[in-house]
Amino acid sequence: MVIAHRGASSYAPENTLAAFDLAIEMGVSHIELDVHTTRDGHVVVLHDDTVDRTTNGSGPVTSHSLAELTALDAGTWFDQRFAGQRIPTLAAVFERYKGRAHIHTEIKGHSLDLSRATVDLVRRHGMAEQVTITSFQKARLGEARAHAPELPAGWLVAEVSEAIIAQARALGLRQLCPRASGVTVELVQRLHAAGLVVRAWGVADEEQMRRVVQAGADGMTVNFPDRLLEYLKT
Ligand code: G3P
Ligand code: CA
Repeated sequence: MVIAHRGASSYAPENTLAAFDLAIEMGVSHIELDVHTTRDGHVVVLHDDTVDRTTNGSGPVTSHSLAELTALDAGTWFDQRFAGQRIPTLAAVFERYKGRAHIHTEIKGHSLDLSRATVDLVRRHGMAEQVTITSFQKARLGEARAHAPELPAGWLVAEVSEAIIAQARALGLRQLCPRASGVTVELVQRLHAAGLVVRAWGVADEEQMRRVVQAGADGMTVNFPDRLLEYLKT
């Protein structure tokens, strides 16, 4: 799985339609994005807890209404060429890429209703075959599993241990997502033996990208998916 991390985020502003469109143009069929809840209960796509870094606004995502968030410019910070890009709703992303990409949806926000709201959207859009739920937060994954056991889910972890593997299996997770710097042949074999798909995150550069492939991992999120596609051709 060549997964465009926040879209093709080396080349376009992360978590915008421009970044997702570019990934699709590159030939990618997996996209990763991050979700939060707005003040008025909508699920929106951006990474940080605040809008400061990636928009012309400021303050926590959760203190903005959907109307306030979608009025912000989410492209100019990256490059003037992307002026006018907006924070997308998860619903808009599902509508735009249905049938065209698998959406690795990371529950980033911390609100108790976010997992439920996210899986409800997956169902409403008939996207169950096209979405994997991920999170660093075990509690959010547990909620997603409880509300929608039909959806595959993956746990993003900094370090892998036997305890983590046991908890992943107990939660019925399909994937374990280790940090790329820790991915080795031995780790991949250990996780495969436990019945888990191995999907890395945090790929810093092309050398690390190649090491993850060579270790036998099943996939990775990467900011420069064009280079991973090119490498896999060789
Ligand atoms: O692939 C998961 C990766 O996105 C986790 O890190 O900070 O980019 O959400 P982050
Ligand atoms: Ca993410």
